[in-house]
Amino acid sequence: MRAKIKTVYQCAACAAVQPKWAGQCAECGAWNTLAEIVPEVTAPRFSGNGSESAVQTLAEISPNEHPRTPCGIGELDRVLGGGIVRGSVVLIGGDPGIGKSTLLLQMMGAVGGYDKLYVSGEESAQQTSLRARRVGLADARVSLLTETCVERILSVAAGRGPRLMVIDSIQTLYTEQLQSAPGSVAQVRECTAQLVRYAKQAECAILLVGHVTKEGALAGPRVLEHMVDTVLYFEGDAGGRYRVLRAVKNRFGAVNELGVFAMSDEGLKGVSNPSAIFLSRHDQPVPGSVIMVTREGTRPLLVEVQALVDESYVANPRRVAVGLDYNRLAMLLAVLHRHGAVAMYGQDVFVNAVGGMRINETGADLAVLLAVLSSFKNKPWPADLVVFGEVGLAGEIRPVPNGQERLKEAAKHGFKRAIVPKANLGKKGGVGMQVLGAQRLSEAIDQL
Ligand code: TYD
Ligand code: MG
Repeated sequence: MRAKIKTVYQCAACAAVQPKWAGQCAECGAWNTLAEIVPEVTAPRFSGNGSESAVQTLAEISPNEHPRTPCGIGELDRVLGGGIVRGSVVLIGGDPGIGKSTLLLQMMGAVGGYDKLYVSGEESAQQTSLRARRVGLADARVSLLTETCVERILSVAAGRGPRLMVIDSIQTLYTEQLQSAPGSVAQVRECTAQLVRYAKQAECAILLVGHVTKEGALAGPRVLEHMVDTVLYFEGDAGGRYRVLRAVKNRFGAVNELGVFAMSDEGLKGVSNPSAIFLSRHDQPVPGSVIMVTREGTRPLLVEVQALVDESYVANPRRVAVGLDYNRLAMLLAVLHRHGAVAMYGQDVFVNAVGGMRINETGADLAVLLAVLSSFKNKPWPADLVVFGEVGLAGEIRPVPNGQERLKEAAKHGFKRAIVPKANLGKKGGVGMQVLGAQRLSEAIDQL
């Protein structure tokens, strides 16, 4: 029998270590911050005779330390930065039912050449095999293990030596070293640590599925994001057809890179030209709708921003932002008041990025303001207009990166007019559309 490892409790606020759990930390007085941990062996050895790690100069290390294997699914490769890096650990988060298991199973089938292990702690072998058939996975080198004890998983892995392993999901795993329930912060952290250690030492790439809590954060909080090499999030509403996979951290590629997929009867299919799917088609121009060109990662995308402004009957009018930053909306409404002379304090304001898209960049500012204004005045903008630009607190319109590329994308999709930051007007001009460069918010508003 395995010797019982003694665990201790550490306060998340002050890092004090205590032998027993308590509701309040005896050191700093914070409540509910003690979590079970496995104490690390910290006795340092300064023996000085050859037991240190080898030191190399940076120049000596060859840059090809991270060989990549394209996984064969174009959109996934794009988000990963070109493929799966040997020995790397990737975390894939997202709402239940969005397609994490489906995508990883498909990836297992698409990567050719070596042994792969799919560990399922959520679904039975039958369920997984049924799904594998559905997505047309027919690779004999994919093995399936239904197991939730991390020690047992690693001993199976060590015996078979897969080069690629999927853990579905990290919240179902537990380690024998801790008493807390699977899914608790301590368990999730310790299991991940063991898997990361294995990945590096055995040069086996591991993809972890992580569930997202109601608040939209990965359960078993941010600690996980620090421990892994790459963090990908699924966005988009699970009811809709399109799914967006975004890299929020990547040691081996660009962040904010997007991969777009459509859910079909046979699993997820990559959408290689996704620009137009985040637009809703209106028969005629409608108030409150503005098309913007965002640039996520390395690719411009057309996205529709919608706003609804309605007279408020409550003391604190509502501001709701879906897919856009709430604080930024509040700030933009203040700018609109001071520099556009339009007051919103008696109005409920709702804004939404269409298609479950999430826009993180400030280039959406102008689109949000113009959508709000259009709804407020109940006057539509022309249907062939696109806008982008950051709005500053002084009412100035500031340039965004890659303006020309964004304009070209809009022109390609048949848009004829644009309102953009003046500094984004190219020197050469002429992308085949009428482009207005605005320096101040008032100039843009005058167009309506
Ligand atoms: P799933 O991969 O199980 O999601 P997660 O692992 O993120 O919880 O997502 C499955 C959803 O997608 C489920 O609602 C059924 C649907 N689906 C299809 O529409 N087509 C398919 O080919 C498959 C496999 C699933
Ligand atoms: Mg799943």
